[in-house]
Amino acid sequence: MTKVIAFDIYGTLIDTHGVVTRLKEYIGNEAQTFSNKWRDKQLEYSFRRGLMRSYQHFGICTSQALDYTNQLLQTNLSDEQKASLLAEYRILPAFDDVIESLTALKTAGHKMYGFSNGTADAVEGLLSNAGIRDLFDGVVSVDPMQTFKPNPDVYTHMVKTGGASVKDTWLVSSNPFDVIGAATVGMQTVWVQRSKSVVFDPWGVEPTTIVKSLIELPDELQNLGNSL
Ligand code: LAC
Repeated sequence: MTKVIAFDIYGTLIDTHGVVTRLKEYIGNEAQTFSNKWRDKQLEYSFRRGLMRSYQHFGICTSQALDYTNQLLQTNLSDEQKASLLAEYRILPAFDDVIESLTALKTAGHKMYGFSNGTADAVEGLLSNAGIRDLFDGVVSVDPMQTFKPNPDVYTHMVKTGGASVKDTWLVSSNPFDVIGAATVGMQTVWVQRSKSVVFDPWGVEPTTIVKSLIELPDELQNLGNSL
């Protein structure tokens, strides 16, 4: 049976650590540490803004997290360097497994969406730049809801847009907080465990299934379709 599949963008289809090469030019060995801290802080800001009902779009979280990390690690990035890193963030690369997997899923007839904390404009740009925009039926951003994942309202908004029932709508994400958010409203979920060292939050809410790479996804969904 064909499904509605919502793909998380940052960290799942698009590699947020694509900025490391540029960061290495600016700060050398600290580049990976900087990139990890920047990403963690960006997400923390989105969670806090959601809780405080003090929404500013995800690009602001990214930019303020960059300033924070620059101060914390005392890396002295110039305004020009920060602007260039933020420009890089709008053209981050897709992971290597994306094109093959999503092409197979599209061919199987699934309805596919990019579903993100990012604005529609930012996500459209990333997907186009990666040459994969045509594989999607649409882009669903949290922006019209003026809050962020994992607020249940944003998952409900995704389900409504896809037009299938909640239990026939799937979230594919490498971010455990995102998987738990979607599962909590009753969506089916795939956790993409891109690295062995990533730990799934022990909240007693489990993904429907786990894959180690998106390449496993078309077969996994087909097998599950026969058993669910
Ligand atoms: C997104 C964040 C969770 O793309 O990475 O929604």
